[in-house]
Amino acid sequence: MANIRVCVAGATGWAGSALSKGIFQATDLELVAAISRGHAGKILGDVLELPELTTPIFGTVSEALNMNPEVFVEYTKPDSAKFHILSALRGGAHVVVGTSGLSDDDFREIDEAAKEVGRGVLAVGNFALTAVLLQKFSEIAAKYIPHWEIIDYAHSDKKDAPSGTARQLASRLSRVRESELDIPLDETQGPKESRGVRLHGSQIHSVRLPGYVISVDAIFGMPDQKLILRHESGTSAEPYVDGALLAIRNVGSLVGVRRGLDSVMEF
Ligand SMILES: NC(=O)c1ccc[n+]([C@@H]2O[C@H](COP(=O)([O-])OP(=O)(O)OC[C@H]3O[C@@H](n4cnc5c(N)ncnc54)[C@H](OP(=O)(O)O)[C@@H]3O)[C@@H](O)[C@H]2O)c1
Repeated sequence: MANIRVCVAGATGWAGSALSKGIFQATDLELVAAISRGHAGKILGDVLELPELTTPIFGTVSEALNMNPEVFVEYTKPDSAKFHILSALRGGAHVVVGTSGLSDDDFREIDEAAKEVGRGVLAVGNFALTAVLLQKFSEIAAKYIPHWEIIDYAHSDKKDAPSGTARQLASRLSRVRESELDIPLDETQGPKESRGVRLHGSQIHSVRLPGYVISVDAIFGMPDQKLILRHESGTSAEPYVDGALLAIRNVGSLVGVRRGLDSVMEF
């Protein structure tokens, strides 16, 4: 079978550069284009210090699409992500979304656009296997335990909150049910913000401090017992590579938006 032709938007960034190296090493994938405004016109291997990697870097999506990628990976920033995704779909590519910060309304619009052109979009708030499993296990817990809250931890300069990981977890749990609150939020004595944000029927608390990387706790409480599920990543982008490669290999079988890596995994 021919290799899958891939374009990575954000290929020089923290997450995108690790993924680009992973694609380069994969024998069934070919990195045909990279996108970065600051490095446009250069060769990706020169930037990543991997001389064998000869992929050209473009400054815009429209230029990169001239390389006819079958799969476009969006790994830039929340403010440019939707434009990139819609452009890639119109250009005929399937899309893997790693960038966080897109809203449900954004995904509805992207879903319509993807269905119109018969392409798939696989959006994964966190490609790390332990984060994917946390979501799966949390869904099971929510079937049995009606009270839970989510704590989302990240470094202090992360602009979006809650994190993509926490948003996706809340969205997934909403398919099971909404979490129960013994005291309605309106009846909170003191600032209501102290109870966090209610999103997709879950309470989420976002901690942003130097020294933290992305981690998330799903805390399920029952009288006199509790279950704490915690995903914790280290400081490298390594945990995200294998999951993103799996998404790239599977997105071509989809039409419309799918959220969560486990939607293409077997359990
Ligand atoms: N789903 C997951 O598992 C996962 C894992 C890690 C990170 N993320 C998310 O992925 C995104 C990227 O994170 P990061 O830490 O890799 O960021 P980063 O290190 O700042 O890298 C951003 C990359 O995007 C490029 N870029 C930014 N704005 C652009 C634009 N308007 N047009 C074209 N290229 C642009 C940057 O290059 P130039 O500035 O040169 O254009 C750079 O290559 C964030 O939303 C983050 O939360 C998700």
